[in-house]
Amino acid sequence: MTRRCFIIGHPVAHSRSPLIHGHWLAEHGLAGSYERVDVPPAKAAAFIARLRAGEFAGGNVTVPNKEVVLPLLDEVSATARAMGAANTLWMEEGRLHGDNTDAYGFLAHLDACVPGWAERTRTALILGAGGAARAVIHGLAERGVGRIFLVNRSSERAAELAEAFPKVVEARAWQEITALVGESDLIVNTTSLGMHGQPPLEIDLSALRPGTIVDDIVYVPLETPLLAEARRRGGIPVDGLGMLLHQAVPGFERWFGVRPQVTAALRLKLEADIPAA
Ligand code: ATR
Repeated sequence: MTRRCFIIGHPVAHSRSPLIHGHWLAEHGLAGSYERVDVPPAKAAAFIARLRAGEFAGGNVTVPNKEVVLPLLDEVSATARAMGAANTLWMEEGRLHGDNTDAYGFLAHLDACVPGWAERTRTALILGAGGAARAVIHGLAERGVGRIFLVNRSSERAAELAEAFPKVVEARAWQEITALVGESDLIVNTTSLGMHGQPPLEIDLSALRPGTIVDDIVYVPLETPLLAEARRRGGIPVDGLGMLLHQAVPGFERWFGVRPQVTAALRLKLEADIPAA
């Protein structure tokens, strides 16, 4: 039986997830499919009915449907509940399950790029306070990072997210970034700034200590101006593409029964699809 899987989003044409899952299906010689389906939030419930009726084995959920699908599920993982959002769905014994693998993907890529990072990360600085920031903070807190500074353009949103992690996260003002850079072992950009077609992320890295890890979850371009500047100053740049690749692993395993690997060949395939800076 050919198992069909999907990614639902609106828009969804830009999604690179079919490239990832298509690569793994071919690599493992599996007769499955993974397709983009444009589903606006108002049509999410109707699409979920098709999934329940057996048309699909499962799939991914992207913007703006990650929150919308949550009340439509039978089983919500603890992580998805903490995120208030699901990105991976699958049917199991007639019940619809949902998980959120963004924090897993973020951590797995960091583990692969900078082994032992958690042991030397006491303090982190997170830029942005959206869903991606929530996933990154969730992951860092799980790994024992004790102090996380959170900075966002709209300070109310930073304060609100900080409240969800009261002992660990401190909301700070955007103007404090220059000083906070010098106090941080890990800096993560979760805003859309620096992405192709968006304004640049203009922060002062002059206080960056050599060896500080600078992780940008933006992956178009692959090396953002933030990462290039961090590299020049002796920081350790970590790009956003790996998070995208690793967050896909648990879903593929659920749907097709094989745990896939994030290999150099897969990365190269995705890199070839990303425009240069
Ligand atoms: P995601 O779920 O992917 O994290 P999001 O919820 O839309 O996406 O969050 C985008 C983040 O980028 C937010 O932190 C947003 O800041 P606001 O909360 O103030 O909107 C940030 N962002 C987007 N454009 C920005 C800009 N021009 N300057 C500063 N921050 C920006």
